[in-house]
Amino acid sequence: MFTLAATGSAVGLGNIWKFPYIAGEHGGGAFVLVYLACLALIGVPIMMAEILIGRRGRQSPINTLQMLGREEDAGSHWGMVGFIGVAAGVIIISFYSVIAGWALAYVARMASGMFSGVTAAGSQSIFSALISDPERLLAWHTIFMVMTTLVVARGVRSGLEQAVKVMMPVLFFLLLLLTAYALNIGEFERSFRFLFQPDFSALSRGGVLIAMGHAFFTLSLGVGAIMVYGSYLPSRVSIAKAALVVALMDTLVALLAGVTIFAIVFANGLPVAAGPGLIFQTLPIAFGQMPGGLFFGTLFFVLLVLAAWTSAISLVEPAVAWLVENRALLRVRAAVVVGVIAWLLGIATVMSFSDWSFRFRFAGEYRNTGVFDLLDILTSGIMLPLGGFSIALFAGWAMSRRSVRDELGGRDGLAFRLWYLAIRYVAPLAVSLVFLHTVGIFGVLG
Ligand code: TRP
Repeated sequence: MFTLAATGSAVGLGNIWKFPYIAGEHGGGAFVLVYLACLALIGVPIMMAEILIGRRGRQSPINTLQMLGREEDAGSHWGMVGFIGVAAGVIIISFYSVIAGWALAYVARMASGMFSGVTAAGSQSIFSALISDPERLLAWHTIFMVMTTLVVARGVRSGLEQAVKVMMPVLFFLLLLLTAYALNIGEFERSFRFLFQPDFSALSRGGVLIAMGHAFFTLSLGVGAIMVYGSYLPSRVSIAKAALVVALMDTLVALLAGVTIFAIVFANGLPVAAGPGLIFQTLPIAFGQMPGGLFFGTLFFVLLVLAAWTSAISLVEPAVAWLVENRALLRVRAAVVVGVIAWLLGIATVMSFSDWSFRFRFAGEYRNTGVFDLLDILTSGIMLPLGGFSIALFAGWAMSRRSVRDELGGRDGLAFRLWYLAIRYVAPLAVSLVFLHTVGIFGVLG
């Protein structure tokens, strides 16, 4: 079923790991507001476009775009868009797998009871010890990459859907349990205000681009992942409904995770801008204090791995599908080729947190950075928005109004017109404006 597979793809590290830490780094409320606006105005319409293109083409994204481009007399160069997406997917999985490796490592640490009654400082030092040990990180990264490659090699769609069916309810239960804990420690209100009271002076120019990029990342847009899953959708099912359900679940998970994590941050006097380690430093404190924390904490990290796994599959799938169709590779070989490339590239991220990290001054503050940050900016900040922008142009301008309307149910009602307006004008313009804003064009002009 499409909705299960797409939810599995959308809900992942992006919601629980990335959203809270980037919201913390970019000042909270105003960032969240821009992010939510991007989800509604750009994300959902582009998700619908990816689904309808995928359902109409029913091939790998590269070939689908090429074929539909020809069919619509819009040229065959649209395959290029699919190609950028495939590349972005492979780059993302390279660092995604390393972070999923941290989650794997935390399953073991949680289960060992290491965190029972842990202090904030203790939790921070356990995390630093992990990320400054490249060999350990490489081992966990390898395990996760093997897990992902195995599933993709076997092409087990029904297993994926079953996994998501069990995963989502348990994940929601654990998030609600954490929210209940957060309500109890007295800093919930402050956390809520931090995330939902916009203070635009705290939002930098770069922050706007990162909020928009994350809207693409969290909904799995711009690489053709949703396009692949769109080809599973039976033709009578409503694309708009499917996209809305996926986007709502995705947003709910991110906001629940965020509000809990900042309550723990404030209650323990931790920095909001702790960076990629944020959830690994905060959540163990909560589990270390709550009754049954050993069990719930272990279960939580198991679910985080599971959520990352169902997302990782969709990052690799466009590349593998293309190799199978065009290079006539066996599925197993294609999966291994992509897996090995991603694994090798992942080594750069492994090293980013220790030996290959460098300090530099940014906006008056010293921060550590490494290849990881560069790959993150390259994909979420550039490739995904460009991919999404091109998909919007494809659905809005290259395809005929009639073709897209047929896929969306055939009626020329208000809902269709709103979507068409969003895909033709709002989404492409918004992406362009955010790009221009980031490079500071408006400042120069005005
Ligand atoms: N959406 C996933 C997350 O939030 C990550 C992901 C899976 C993704 N497939 C994608 C991101 C395709 C961009 C493109 O964790």
